[in-house]
Amino acid sequence: MTDHNEVKMVEMDYSGVRAKAKNPLKIQDLSLRDGHQSLFATRGRTEDMIPVAEQMDEIGFWAVEVWGGASFHTMHRYLNEDPWQRLRTLKRYFKKTPISMLLRGQKLVGYRNYADDLAELFIKKTVENGLDIFRTFDALNDYRNFETVVPVIKACGAHFQGCICYTLTEPRLGKGVYNLDYYVKKAKDLEDMGADSICIKDVAGLMAPYDAFELVKTLKAEVTPPIHLHSHFTSGMSPMTHLKAVEAGIDIIDTCMTPYAYRTSHAALEPFVMSLMGTNRDTGFDIKALTRINETLEKDVIPKYKHLLDDSKVSLIDIDVLLHQTPDFMRANLEKQLREMDALDKINDVYKELPRVRKELGQIPLVTPTSRIVGTQTVNNVLFDTKEERYKMITDQVKDLCYGLYGKTAVPIDAELQKKALKDYERGEEPITCRPAEVLTPELEKAREEIGDLAVDEEDLILCALFPVTGKKYLMQKYGKEQVPDTVKPITLEDVKKRDDMIKKAKTGKLIEPAADLPEKSEFARTFNVFVDGDCFEVGVDEVGGSPVISYASLAAATPAPAVPSAPAVPPAAPAAPAPKPAPPKPAAPAPKPAAAAGSGTPVLAPMPGMIVKYEKNVGDTVNAGDAVVVIEAMKMENILPATADGTITAINFKSGDSVAKDDVLATID
Ligand code: CO
Repeated sequence: MTDHNEVKMVEMDYSGVRAKAKNPLKIQDLSLRDGHQSLFATRGRTEDMIPVAEQMDEIGFWAVEVWGGASFHTMHRYLNEDPWQRLRTLKRYFKKTPISMLLRGQKLVGYRNYADDLAELFIKKTVENGLDIFRTFDALNDYRNFETVVPVIKACGAHFQGCICYTLTEPRLGKGVYNLDYYVKKAKDLEDMGADSICIKDVAGLMAPYDAFELVKTLKAEVTPPIHLHSHFTSGMSPMTHLKAVEAGIDIIDTCMTPYAYRTSHAALEPFVMSLMGTNRDTGFDIKALTRINETLEKDVIPKYKHLLDDSKVSLIDIDVLLHQTPDFMRANLEKQLREMDALDKINDVYKELPRVRKELGQIPLVTPTSRIVGTQTVNNVLFDTKEERYKMITDQVKDLCYGLYGKTAVPIDAELQKKALKDYERGEEPITCRPAEVLTPELEKAREEIGDLAVDEEDLILCALFPVTGKKYLMQKYGKEQVPDTVKPITLEDVKKRDDMIKKAKTGKLIEPAADLPEKSEFARTFNVFVDGDCFEVGVDEVGGSPVISYASLAAATPAPAVPSAPAVPPAAPAAPAPKPAPPKPAAPAPKPAAAAGSGTPVLAPMPGMIVKYEKNVGDTVNAGDAVVVIEAMKMENILPATADGTITAINFKSGDSVAKDDVLATID
C-alpha cells in the first residue's frame, strides 16, 4: 500500500515551471508570535509587523500565528499595547491567511485556570476580533481543561487544533511515562473531542528525527485529523526531525522567517521550500517573495530588537537541553531569577534538584506554566531548604497543583509533599479529582465590579480579569489617567543608530566626552554610590516626570536622609544619565541594606525581586508570626510572605503593582 504522503520526485517540465504538488506540505509561520517570543522576549510591536504582513499574506501559508502565548501579557505590561487592537490590525492585513493563536486551554493566555464564564467570553471575543485557529494546549495534557473552551470555539465556527505537549523523562521516546502509547491515546482523545487538527508541541526541541518518524507514522495510521508538528530548534535536531516527519506523512509544520529562526526559535522556512521543490510535497512557495520579506525584516525591523537577542554564546545550538530536558525559556528564567538573587553560583544545584522536584510533582511536562511552577519551586528549594527540611517555602502555585487546580498529573504527586503543601491550604486539605474549573466560582461579575468604569468594553474587562494588577495599570495609561512611562515606548531606527554609534565609539575608546545637551540638574537631584562587582560608581539621579514612590531610603539609619521628604525610589535602570563616571576607588564595602535599619521594628523583606500583588494587612493591624502580610509575584509565580514576628504593622512601603528588589523592606512590624 502506498501512502499518499510519501515523498517522491515529480517530473519538472523543461521550462522549469514547478508543477503544483498533489499534496503540498502546509506551513504555519510563527515569526510574529513564537519567533519573537523565543528570540526577542516577546517584545515585537504591532507597528513592526505591519511592514511584512501584506507580503506574508501572499505566500500561501496554512496560517500565521500572531497572538496568544506570552504576547497578551507582554503587550499590555511592557509595550503599552492593547492586545485586542493587534488582532484587529493584523486581521486587516492578513486578508487570505487564517490567523492563529496559542491558547493555554482553560488558562487562556494566563498562568492559572480561569472560571468558565471568563473562558467562554474570552473565546467569543477573540473570534469577534478576528481569530481563526485556536491552537489549544494544556500543560498537563489534561483535556478536561478543554471542555469549556472547545464547544465555544466550535460554536463560533473557528478551527480547534488540539495539542499534545511532547515531553520525555529519558533521552529518547521509549519506555517512560511518555511513550508511543501515551501519545496515541492523547491523539484519540483529541479526535473524540472534535479536533480539526492535532499538533505535537515540542517546546524544548527534544524530539529526535527517528522518533518523529515513528510517532507521525503511527498517528497518521491511528487518527483522522491532520497532524501538525511544532518542534523548537534549540537542540539543533529540528530540521532533521521535520524532514523525517515529512517522510512519515506529516500534514503541517511550523517554521519562521529566517531572521526569526534558529537558536531557541524554530527552523527557517526557506530551506524546506528548497528541499521539497520538485517533489509531490512541494510547498509551492515563491522563494524570491520570501527573500523580499526577509530583506524588509533585516533592514527595518530586526535592528530594533537585536539587542534583546541572547548572543552570549556563539553556538546556535544548545546541547545542554538534551542533558537536562529543560526547555530553554525555562533555563533562561532560572538563570535570570538566580542572577537577580545574587545566587547564579547555585545554577548547578538547581539543575540537580530540578528533575527531583519535577518527579515529586507528578513528572509533569515542562511547558508554560508548569515550567515556571517547577522552576520557581526548585529555586526556592535550593535557596531556602535546610538539611532537616525540604520544601521550606512552597509557592502558591505548587499548593494549587497539589490540590488538583491544574488538573491530573501523569503520575501521582509525592504523597508527603502533597500533604505538606495542603496543610492549611485555603480551599481544603483534601485534593480534588474533578475538572479543575468545577471548583472555581464565576469571576466576570467580580472583575466588572472591581474595574468599574475604567473598562470601556468587554475586551478591557477581560484584560483586567486576566491580569488584575497590570491590566488596570495599562487601562489607566490607555485612557490618559496615568502617564505612559518612557520604558514602554517604542524605539526608532534613529535611536538604534545613535546606540550603535555609541557602542562603536566605546569599542574604539573614543567615548569620553559627555553629550552636549545634558539636562539641567535640579535642586532635588540626589547622588548615589552604586556598587557593581567591587567597583563603585557615583550616579546622579534626578526625577523626570512620573509619580514619586515612597522609599525606604529615609529609613536607612546608615545614610543620613537628605532634606527631600519624598525622594523617588530608584529603579535599577532608571536614569537616562550619561555613562557613569567611575568614582575614586574605595575600600570594598557592601552597600547598606534597609535590613540594617536596626531599632525600627522587624522588617518583612522581599526574598527575591518581583512585583507586589497585594498587601493582606494594613498599617495598624496586629499580626502573629506566620500570618500572611504581603503577596509578591516573582517570575509570574505568587509567594505569600508571612509576618516575621508578633506585633503591629507600623509601615507598608509599597503598593500593588510596584516593583521591588531583593531585600527591600515591604513592611515593618513593631
Ligand atoms: Co513554541
